[in-house]
Amino acid sequence: MKIAVTGKGGTGKTTLAAGLATFFVSEGKRVFAIDADPDANLALTLGYPNPSSIKPLIEMKELIEERTGAKIGSLNPYFKLNPRVDDIPDKYSVKHNGINLMLMGRVRGGGLGCACPENAFLKAMVTSLILRREEVIIMDMEAGIEHLGRATAKGVDELVVVVEPGLRSIETAHRIRELAKEVGIENLGVVGNKIRHQSDKEFLMTKMPHFNFLGFILYDEKILEADLGNTSPFGTNTGLMGEVKKIVAKIMEGKS
Ligand SMILES: Nc1ncnc2c1ncn2[C@@H]1O[C@H](COP(=O)(O)OP(=O)(O)O)[C@@H](O)[C@H]1O
Ligand SMILES: [Mg+2]
Repeated sequence: MKIAVTGKGGTGKTTLAAGLATFFVSEGKRVFAIDADPDANLALTLGYPNPSSIKPLIEMKELIEERTGAKIGSLNPYFKLNPRVDDIPDKYSVKHNGINLMLMGRVRGGGLGCACPENAFLKAMVTSLILRREEVIIMDMEAGIEHLGRATAKGVDELVVVVEPGLRSIETAHRIRELAKEVGIENLGVVGNKIRHQSDKEFLMTKMPHFNFLGFILYDEKILEADLGNTSPFGTNTGLMGEVKKIVAKIMEGKS
């Protein structure tokens, strides 16, 4: 199962990604979680003891230079577009509570659009994880799908877009759907988060009639409190895991 989570910032992508990773581990699955958001906080949400000590892949300059054959920052335009990366997840992921986590980090300059060795390295990494690993892969992304290209699209079982009651995140979801179509991602599902009333659900479904809703997550003070207290929201919260379970069931249903 390969799931990528995206949506507008602040909607709850990281909370859901952490919930999905935690759920699959509880089912006895091997899980690789990838934090592909430059503003990374998946480790914190998953309760890693020292989240800021985890080094993002993008900062492993020597490794990237060795694999791509390029000198980072030099003007030498020659580097391998498909560097060998298949061994990286096992060597560089950090394990906690049964989850293997990797941080991508922030790409300098033109972001993921730039033709630089770091990007070639990260892209090869994502392709390798999505197309060649047997484990469950959960990817926490920023408000776009820049990490996913045509090569990886068919390997993504579900692109989950998180929205909250409000037009801004809905707007982002529409934009993401266009991008997803362009690269050929077939399954796009929506999760409505921070639901306070039945009317919030109705609002989302009315504004997004052509989307496949995978489920809803209630607004829960405990999730916010966990954030304030710098702890994982899963120790204290049982509602969230129940909702995540239903979302996974819905994803599976769409696959069969
Ligand atoms: N269902 C919820 N109820 C209450 N607070 C939530 C809920 N989901 C997320 N939050 C809070 O909203 C903030 C943003 O969530 P986060 O998962 O980091 O979003 P994103 O990764 O999309 O930026 C965090 O403070 C988080 O604790
Ligand atoms: Mg996040």
